[in-house]
Amino acid sequence: MDLVRDENGKIVYKEFTEKYCDTVWQIGQTAVTRPQSDEFLPFDTQKPEGLLRRIIVSTSESGDIIADFFCGSGTTLAAAEKLGRRWIGSDLSKFAIQVTRKRLLDIHNSKDLLDEKKKKYGNPARPFELWNIGNYETVYWQEKEDEYLAFMLKLYQSQPLTGFRYLHGRKGDRAVHVGPLNAPVTMEEVEKVVIECRANNFNKADVLGWEWSYEVNELAKELASKNGVDLRLIQIPSVNEIKSALVGFDLKLLKIPEQVVEKELSGYVKFPEVAYLEIETEVKKGEVTLKITDFQLSPTAELAEIASKVKDSRELIDYWAIDWDYKGDTFHNQWQSFRVKKNPKVDYEAKHKYEESREYQIMVKVVDVFGNDTNKVVGVKVRRD
Ligand SMILES: C[S@@+](CC[C@H](N)C(=O)[O-])C[C@H]1O[C@@H](n2cnc3c(N)ncnc32)[C@H](O)[C@@H]1O
Repeated sequence: MDLVRDENGKIVYKEFTEKYCDTVWQIGQTAVTRPQSDEFLPFDTQKPEGLLRRIIVSTSESGDIIADFFCGSGTTLAAAEKLGRRWIGSDLSKFAIQVTRKRLLDIHNSKDLLDEKKKKYGNPARPFELWNIGNYETVYWQEKEDEYLAFMLKLYQSQPLTGFRYLHGRKGDRAVHVGPLNAPVTMEEVEKVVIECRANNFNKADVLGWEWSYEVNELAKELASKNGVDLRLIQIPSVNEIKSALVGFDLKLLKIPEQVVEKELSGYVKFPEVAYLEIETEVKKGEVTLKITDFQLSPTAELAEIASKVKDSRELIDYWAIDWDYKGDTFHNQWQSFRVKKNPKVDYEAKHKYEESREYQIMVKVVDVFGNDTNKVVGVKVRRD
């Protein structure tokens, strides 16, 4: 809006006697305090889209960027998307990000915000990227490997071991290896752990990792088992999870006194085992059928709570996506299936037609109902003739 100025350059304010809107906003016929049922997801402070529409339309133009850095279930982002704005959202909760992602992927089924006569928005969300940038505090540990290892071993309730190259600690009769801070655990690393275990009569080992190279999964376990080592791949919880266990301590992460780590923190911080994902592929001419045949989570207290309701363990999949031509860098979400309130089950099978005969790497990303990711890459040889 252009500002009106007088001959001295001072802004001229116009007085309005008519009230356009009050401090209490009424959207539609009734004062809306809760989102309507078709928008509603179980998120405490979710705002009605009509309210967000008013805020976005009155403060921005089409193509502007709307940001909600505490995006919760993602209503602001969805409203911005439907109103032709670009958007950025962030949240420290994995669950919030998961709900937001599903809201955006399912946006075509939601209400249109510009045309009341239209029943549904009807368009897919424009492509968006999801970034995990939660572990920046770990910079503190760079160049301080001893401190990092000591902290992780304590958090995992294990004891340090000395005199080994790859075996950093032990937990009962299991050797413990702590994976690197800023890189995925690779197959070579697992191999070195297994060799050192064999040479020192350890027949059980836990490898802890922040991230995993895609081939480290069943393959790593198989390799270990061939060498007489019972291997577990253990997920290090995100710094945010560790921090949320610290609420109430008012202590700075990573400078926490040892007794707190030992007595308080380790009881709350969970180290889940990496999930087991089994995939089958069938190639017929140019078409690949990919099936999830098994998905198993390690037993935890949360899982025990819902276990009786789960008939098929694949029901624990909240969302899964496929990149049909994974090139080893960014994951391209080319197909996805996710649970929605009306149909709380994903499809277990997907098909894809390839244009060109060659070998492809397919990457599958599964997010379970607790918000943990499991990735797997499978190779297929496609011949169209
Ligand atoms: C009240 S909800 C916001 C919902 C959303 N903005 C809306 O208006 O519907 C607050 C969200 O902030 C997130 N949160 C809290 N502290 C945060 C932080 N330091 N960084 C990022 N997200 C945070 C919580 O996980 C929660 O999802």
